[in-house]
Amino acid sequence: MVQGLPIIPSVAKRLRNTNFRKIKALFSSMLLKDQFERFVKLSLLAFQLVYEAILDGKLKDLFHRQMFRHRLLTQVEIDLATLTPPKNILPSDFHFVELIPDEIIKGKLSFAVKSRGFKLKHSIKRGLRIFALIKDFVVVGDLWCVMQYGAGVAINNPDLDMLGIHCKDREAYIYDVFIDPSYRGKNLAVPLQISLQSKLKSEGYRKLYSYYYNDNLPAMRMHRTLKYKEIKKFRASRFFFYKKIEEVI
Ligand SMILES: CC(C)(COP(=O)(O)OP(=O)(O)OC[C@H]1O[C@@H](n2cnc3c(N)ncnc32)[C@H](O)[C@@H]1OP(=O)(O)O)[C@@H](O)C(=O)NCCC(=O)NCCS
Repeated sequence: MVQGLPIIPSVAKRLRNTNFRKIKALFSSMLLKDQFERFVKLSLLAFQLVYEAILDGKLKDLFHRQMFRHRLLTQVEIDLATLTPPKNILPSDFHFVELIPDEIIKGKLSFAVKSRGFKLKHSIKRGLRIFALIKDFVVVGDLWCVMQYGAGVAINNPDLDMLGIHCKDREAYIYDVFIDPSYRGKNLAVPLQISLQSKLKSEGYRKLYSYYYNDNLPAMRMHRTLKYKEIKKFRASRFFFYKKIEEVI
């Protein structure tokens, strides 16, 4: 212990001699590296999405999702406290599970739509919970939940600021509901959402927020069947990463 004491002046000397410019350069190169990695990941995801859209003959739909003007958007919410979601309403060969972030990151899960697994792998962060519909060990549908304080951290989701949603404790924001195109139109979306409501209610959650575009008929019907309350309407415009919304009064 006594021998360790001279370390203190030597640390102070080293600090004095430290070239802070070098440290700054190191940090900015790390920042650039992060941005470069993000750029590479986004480009790979974009290629995968375009490839899948070409295979499905849905390239026009893909561009329509990335570029639009003044699309009507409805913000909705549902009160879980007064709701009694029915149990086990999924067809028997489908299972509702919560995905484990570590398994997603390590690529241990099989996704029917590859770009979906890719997107999840690179978007998962603390506080985000992913629930999925599984058939024959393959993820055929999923939805994402932001629990504002669920994991002890407030995670920053740009949608929340954009829509003016302030999730309090035991409230969650549900987004990006997705069903594999080959399973669409089979009435799986509502049971998937009901399974989620049931799970979150059992954990003490009181309110869920979400939104849909009014021209997305399956999404609008799904929310209406679930009896989500319509709160506000917006006009949304998007050009790839640039998004703008204005409330419709
Ligand atoms: C939105 C989505 C999850 C709905 O799932 P789905 O399998 O297409 O729809 P379902 O078969 O479960 O049906 C849900 C409702 O939409 C209706 N519906 C389904 N396909 C429809 C169509 N092509 N046109 C109009 N209504 C349709 C169903 O009749 C049902 O309504 P009901 O409850 O009044 O009977 C799915 O279409 C999807 O993944 N879309 C791409 C991602 C997306 O847009 N997500 C929405 C985010 S809010």
